[in-house]
Amino acid sequence: MLQLTHIEKTYTTGEIQLQALRDVNLHIQAGMMVALCGPSGSGKSTLLNICGLLNQDYFGEVRFAGELLMRDYRQAMEIRRTHLGFVFQKFNLVPVMTAFENVAYPLLLNGLKAVEVKRCVMAMLDHVGLIKFAHYRPDRLSGGQQQRVAIARALVHQPKLVIADEPTASLDSETAEQIVALMKSLGREKETAFIVASHDDRMTLHCDKVIHLKDGVIQLEENLCAA
Ligand SMILES: Nc1ncnc2c1ncn2[C@@H]1O[C@H](COP(=O)(O)OP(=O)(O)OP(=O)(O)O)[C@@H](O)[C@H]1O
Ligand SMILES: [Mg+2]
Repeated sequence: MLQLTHIEKTYTTGEIQLQALRDVNLHIQAGMMVALCGPSGSGKSTLLNICGLLNQDYFGEVRFAGELLMRDYRQAMEIRRTHLGFVFQKFNLVPVMTAFENVAYPLLLNGLKAVEVKRCVMAMLDHVGLIKFAHYRPDRLSGGQQQRVAIARALVHQPKLVIADEPTASLDSETAEQIVALMKSLGREKETAFIVASHDDRMTLHCDKVIHLKDGVIQLEENLCAA
């Protein structure tokens, strides 16, 4: 579904060049949950930004659903809007919008009618156990509740792939466990693939594949789903 071939990424800051990814090859199949591990600075977020078509300044090839991406801003935006979802460490909810409005946002971007938006958002909030909080703004929700809103927002338009950068890093361990379990069950139900950067071993335990990065190089790829 998403295929990266010979990806190289260099950041240039003034005179200094830093190679953040070297010859990275990665294939994420439909419905698969992939963990991305590695020490701070190993290139996890850089790789996720390329997978999420947020950064197109790289060498190598990225294919989405078989289609070669041409580093075209409009093409990337279109794929992000229709086929990708994002979850971040700091939740990134819009503070002035209610939980309902935050989750509705991707559907409005996709041009759904109001009645459909309402149906999908309420179903999604129900899935993540937050129906009662639909009209709360993020500042009235706990960290775990905010992350559940963020997951609902990432999945509401039924994307093919969700990109999650340290989704459990701001949560206590019990909440983190629930969030991972929730992502896994929702992903399985809708055949959504996930690629998740994490320092958290509990996260990797739930994944089909674990990729270990160090200094921008894939050191090891463990397939756990074949067992
Ligand atoms: N915008 C940028 N400009 C210059 N260098 C950058 C930029 N973003 C990241 N880097 C560098 O690229 C390398 C990889 O960074 P990246 O953020 O991908 O690591 P990471 O594995 O996500 O780390 P962490 O676990 O701390 O989030 C690091 O050496 C970092 O300093
Ligand atoms: Mg990072």
